[in-house]
Amino acid sequence: MAIMLTAPGHWRPWGDLFTAVQTGRATAHKALGVNLWEHYVKNPEESSHFDRAMGSFSSFAAADVARLHDFSAYARVVDVGGSQGVLLAAVLQAHPSCRGILFDLPHVIDGARARVEAEGLGQRMDLVAGSFFEPVIPAAEAYLLKHILHDWDDASSTAILRQIHGAALPGARLLVVEMVMPDGGEPSRTALLDLNMFVLADGRERTAREYEELLASTGWALERITPAPSGVSLIEARKR
Ligand SMILES: C[S@@+](CC[C@H](N)C(=O)[O-])C[C@H]1O[C@@H](n2cnc3c(N)ncnc32)[C@H](O)[C@@H]1O
Repeated sequence: MAIMLTAPGHWRPWGDLFTAVQTGRATAHKALGVNLWEHYVKNPEESSHFDRAMGSFSSFAAADVARLHDFSAYARVVDVGGSQGVLLAAVLQAHPSCRGILFDLPHVIDGARARVEAEGLGQRMDLVAGSFFEPVIPAAEAYLLKHILHDWDDASSTAILRQIHGAALPGARLLVVEMVMPDGGEPSRTALLDLNMFVLADGRERTAREYEELLASTGWALERITPAPSGVSLIEARKR
C-alpha cells in the first residue's frame, strides 16, 4: 500500500488536488496523460504494486464478507474486478461447495494466476479476462463487487451494474462491498477515500440512499446494508 501511494499513478494526480477541486474533475488524466487504468496497463511494475496493495486492503474485509453472507446456495460466484482474488479466495475457503470466477482486465488476470495456484484454489477458481463495460461477464447466481463502484461516476457505475444485471441468472444476488458515506457530513474516514477516488478517477463514495437509488435504477432491489468491523459495509441486492 505504501509503495502504491507513493508511485506516480497516485502522487501525481494528488499533487494537483487544487485544480481537481477548482474544476470538479479528476486530475489523473492531465497528470498521467491517460486515465488511471490505462496508466497501469502501460506501467506493469506499478500495476503489480497496485494489485498487491488491493489484495492487502481486501484481506481486512474478506473474512467479514465470507462470514456475513451465506454463499453455500450458489454454484458460482463471480468477483467482478476481483484483482488478485483475495476476497474470492476467502469466500471459497469458507464455502467449500462454491466455484469462483475471477473477472478483471487481461493484465490483472495474468498477474493473478500464480497467486491463485499458490492458494491451492486453481481447481475451484476460473480466471476470466475482460472489461465490465462489455457483455462478457460470466453468468452466475452471485456477484461480488468490491471497491469498484467508488472508482466511477454515476454514468459509468450505471453501465457496470447493467452489464452485471444482463449476465446474472434470474434472482441472482449482488454483493457490493464499499465504505458507506455518512448522511450528515460528520467526520469519517470514508471522506478521505472519497477525495482519493475523486482526484484519481472521477469516482466517489456514496451514502446508503445513493447506493439504493443506483441499484434500483439498474434492476437491483436492495435487501440490506450491514456495516462490518473492518470498516466496509456489505450491500446486498437481488436481481429483479
Ligand atoms: C480499486 S480496484 C478493486 C480491486 C478488488 N475488487 C478489491 O477490492 O481489492 C479496481 C479493480 O477494477 C479493475 N478494473 C478497472 N477497469 C476495469 C474494466 N473495464 N473491466 C474489468 N475490471 C476493471 C482494476 O483492474 C482493479 O482490479
